[in-house]
Amino acid sequence: EESCKIVVVGSGSVGKSCLTLRYLQSKFVEDYDPTIEESYRKMVIIDQEPTLLEVLDTAGQDEYRSIRDKYFQTGEGFIIVYSVTSDPSFVEAKNFHQTLQRIKEYCYTPVITVGNKADLENERRITYQQGQELSSSFKSKFMETSAKTGMNVPQCFEELVREIRKW
Ligand code: GTP
Ligand code: MG
Repeated sequence: EESCKIVVVGSGSVGKSCLTLRYLQSKFVEDYDPTIEESYRKMVIIDQEPTLLEVLDTAGQDEYRSIRDKYFQTGEGFIIVYSVTSDPSFVEAKNFHQTLQRIKEYCYTPVITVGNKADLENERRITYQQGQELSSSFKSKFMETSAKTGMNVPQCFEELVREIRKW
C-alpha cells in the first residue's frame, strides 16, 4: 500500500493549519491558534490510486522552531506556504527552502510553493508573478490558494502527491 509523507512549512499565521484542515476535513476556522505540532493520516484517492496521506502541520512561530528541523528529514514532499498579504512570510519562504535543501543535501525533493490567502485581494502585498518567480527559483510548482474559499486547496496536495509518485 502506498503512503505519502507531506510536511507543510511556512511562517506563523500564513494558513498552514487552515489549508490542512480544509483539505482533510473540509472546514475553515477563523480563529488563530498557533500550532506546535499536529499530524494527520487519511486515506485519499488521487488519480484512482488510494494513498495513505500523512500530513505534518508544523509550527511557524519562532519559539517552536527547534522541533522543526527533524520534520525536514522524514518528509517526502513539502508544501512551502507564504501569505500573499505578508512580505516577511514571502522572504521566509526562501529560508525554508534553503534549510530544506541543506537538510536534503541538495538532492531533489518534491516541493509545491503556495501563496495562500488569495481571497484577501485588498491586502495583497505579493503579486502572482512574484510568487511564480520564487517558485521557479525553487524548481517547484506554484499555486495561489485560499483556505477560506477552498480555491486550489485539493489541487496543491494532489499535485504534490503526483510529484512524490514520479520521484
Ligand atoms: P502557525 O500554526 O502559527 O504557524 O500558523 P498557521 O500557518 O497554521 O496559520 P493558521 O492556519 O492558523 O491561520 C492563521 C489565521 O489566518 C487564522 O485566523 C485563519 O483563519 C486565517 N487564514 C488562514 N488561511 C486563510 C485564507 O486563505 N484566507 C483568509 N482570509 N484567512 C485565512
Ligand atoms: Mg498552524
